Amino acid sequence: MKYIGNKQRLLDFIDSVIESENLPQQGIFIDIFTGTTNVAQHYKKKGYRIISNDFMTYSYIFQQAYIKNNQFPKFNSLLQSKYFKISPVLLDDKYEPLRIVVDYLNKLPGKKGFIYRHYAPAGEYKRQFFSNENAIRIDATREQLHKWKEEGLFNESEFYILLASLIDAADFVANISGTYGAYLKIWRSMALKPFTMLVPNLIESNLEHQVYKDDSNKIIDNLAGDILYIDPPYNSRQYAANFHILETLACWDEPKVYGKTGLRPYEEKKSVYSQKSKCKEFFAELIAKARTSYILMSYNNEGIIPHDFIIKTLSKRGDVRVYARDYRRFRTERDHENRHYKVHDDRVQENIYVVRIKQPVHSKIGIISVG
Ligand SMILES: C[S@@+](CC[C@H](N)C(=O)[O-])C[C@H]1O[C@@H](n2cnc3c(N)ncnc32)[C@H](O)[C@@H]1O
Repeated sequence: MKYIGNKQRLLDFIDSVIESENLPQQGIFIDIFTGTTNVAQHYKKKGYRIISNDFMTYSYIFQQAYIKNNQFPKFNSLLQSKYFKISPVLLDDKYEPLRIVVDYLNKLPGKKGFIYRHYAPAGEYKRQFFSNENAIRIDATREQLHKWKEEGLFNESEFYILLASLIDAADFVANISGTYGAYLKIWRSMALKPFTMLVPNLIESNLEHQVYKDDSNKIIDNLAGDILYIDPPYNSRQYAANFHILETLACWDEPKVYGKTGLRPYEEKKSVYSQKSKCKEFFAELIAKARTSYILMSYNNEGIIPHDFIIKTLSKRGDVRVYARDYRRFRTERDHENRHYKVHDDRVQENIYVVRIKQPVHSKIGIISVG
């Protein structure tokens, strides 16, 4: 998934820092700005117990499906319902129930709904985020999930797994160059491919993982563990505005959208980490409250919190070391239109800061209490 600050391509870099610094290879790994959950998924696979958090609802759906959930869904109630009439005992392949349900959803006829009305060219507002055909299929699928949920045909994780797959599939065919801050005027080839849900890669695990949808600076009070991984936004682009359609697919709440792009109101989801006037203060508060043995922080050299301030703040908690790697810039079509980068400016430096906390609070409890 294209996501601002997605660390998928930097996982080996984070691994190499953990190895060089001799950080614990197991224990509690807290990913407090988890976004796509790619980092949390990677460390779940490595055997850590994960606590993840992000205040966006679509991220919470991913967290539920890929972090909290530890097994392939059986869909016992749904498969026995009038929609399928299949006896679960006949299915011995663990992937089979999920395949059957995804297959059913992929064959649903389209239905004009919220996405069609607001984000397709034939809809009322003529926006070009999705082709007409894909918009009605996304509507039909999201509506079906909602209906099955209302009918009590899923358990929680079964619902989240399908919704995560739907959000991924919709994002795959969105006619955007990187964010939902704008749609493209010309159709990109992926946007004309049919919307198709895939059977997601679920991670089996025997450990209990915890997931949250809270503000980082509030939830930090309730967390303790071994490694705190911090990957905050690094510029003024608000995630709630740039990924608003994913949020609507996650919430399915028919918001009163506005403006050229059909933005949902996002006043409550404005991040202080994307505001120059506030980010330093809130970052300092987060670091002061951390109760882990180590902090790992990803940030790039163009971020709105200055490098010197990061070092000064982290140093209050213990010895700090910095690792750096060149990285290709995340770009959107709008960047190409309005900004002129020199060729070498296509690369930014991605830093990982490591802190060994003095007087660490080591806990095997993970979450202590949630208010
Ligand atoms: C740089 S991205 C994280 C990317 C992630 N590591 C990945 O690989 O996908 C920053 C994330 O922080 C979240 N965020 C921003 N401010 C937040 C806050 N105050 N509390 C919780 N999450 C926040 C955003 O929704 C976004 O997903």
